Amino acid sequence: MSDDRLRAERRLDLGLALAGDGDHAAAVEALQAACDLAPGWVEAHFALAENLEKLPGHAAQAEAAYRTCLSLEPADRMGARIRLTLLGAAPTPDRLPAAYVEALFDQEARRFDSKMKDKLDYRGPEAIAQAVHKILPDLAHPARVLDLGCGTGLIAPSLRLAAGRLDGLDLSSGMLVQAVATGLYDSVRQGDLLNDAWLIDEQPYDLIAAGDVLNYIGDLAPVFQSATAALSPGGFFVFTVEAGEDTQIELGEGHRYRHGDTRLRPWIAAALLDLVSLERRVLRQEKRQPVYGLICITRKPPLPVDMGLPVPHFDQKTV
Ligand SMILES: C[S@@+](CC[C@H](N)C(=O)[O-])C[C@H]1O[C@@H](n2cnc3c(N)ncnc32)[C@H](O)[C@@H]1O
Repeated sequence: MSDDRLRAERRLDLGLALAGDGDHAAAVEALQAACDLAPGWVEAHFALAENLEKLPGHAAQAEAAYRTCLSLEPADRMGARIRLTLLGAAPTPDRLPAAYVEALFDQEARRFDSKMKDKLDYRGPEAIAQAVHKILPDLAHPARVLDLGCGTGLIAPSLRLAAGRLDGLDLSSGMLVQAVATGLYDSVRQGDLLNDAWLIDEQPYDLIAAGDVLNYIGDLAPVFQSATAALSPGGFFVFTVEAGEDTQIELGEGHRYRHGDTRLRPWIAAALLDLVSLERRVLRQEKRQPVYGLICITRKPPLPVDMGLPVPHFDQKTV
């Protein structure tokens, strides 16, 4: 490591300590020095941007520092584009950057379950369990089930009850390590649900579930299209989203999208899925406030039942 980089690291540590003490002006000075010593170091520019944001009257400099992060690392592991959106300096993106979501959950993986259960009072597993209970009479047996964005496997117990086979797909390898440790999955794969295949060996699923996953995607149209393509006729797509207003794609302070009823319905209809039920209820707490979600059950129409009518036959020669 070069001397400049070593000195930059010391400045960064100092800047973070000063920021921790609430002295953002002094932190900016130390972090600016770190950036000058190591101009290609994205973490230093990001820390600088965050502290500039906290200094009154420095929004334009914060914006410039976030833009530097984006030019240094277009995959945007740090989530600079989200910060620009929340500053009002960039349009709301269709999705959060995959590299950002992956890094976030890799970091969270070990403490994810205790945080969700104890701190955030996460109710997704109960919501999915009730939805599965509701559709059970109409679900194929044994069902092939995909847990989309499975994370550590918190909703796997409710899916396993209905599943002959349960597969998991997730962006974060750290989360998947925890999912494997549950012993509840037949397979798990690392992949991006917006870009990678959902099916294994072209075999469709009877149930696809997504608990607290679609909050990381703004434009859900391609998700519903993929669900239709990956479901067997009569198969179900069950998911939760954070409830929001209906006017536009909404990105909340917690860096998650919110979705409203009247925006979801046309996406579902356009993918030729039937909306079986849509329920609003508290899905978790944040800063001790309830966070409302929508729990949706959608279904790919079953094949028409053979009514015993004769199937018309056309003789090749006479047609
Ligand atoms: C809040 S966790 C929820 C995990 C689990 N479904 C549950 O209910 O506990 C969100 C998970 O979705 C995954 N995820 C987010 N966006 C994704 C994407 N585009 N493709 C695959 N997984 C994604 C994350 O890596 C993370 O593990």
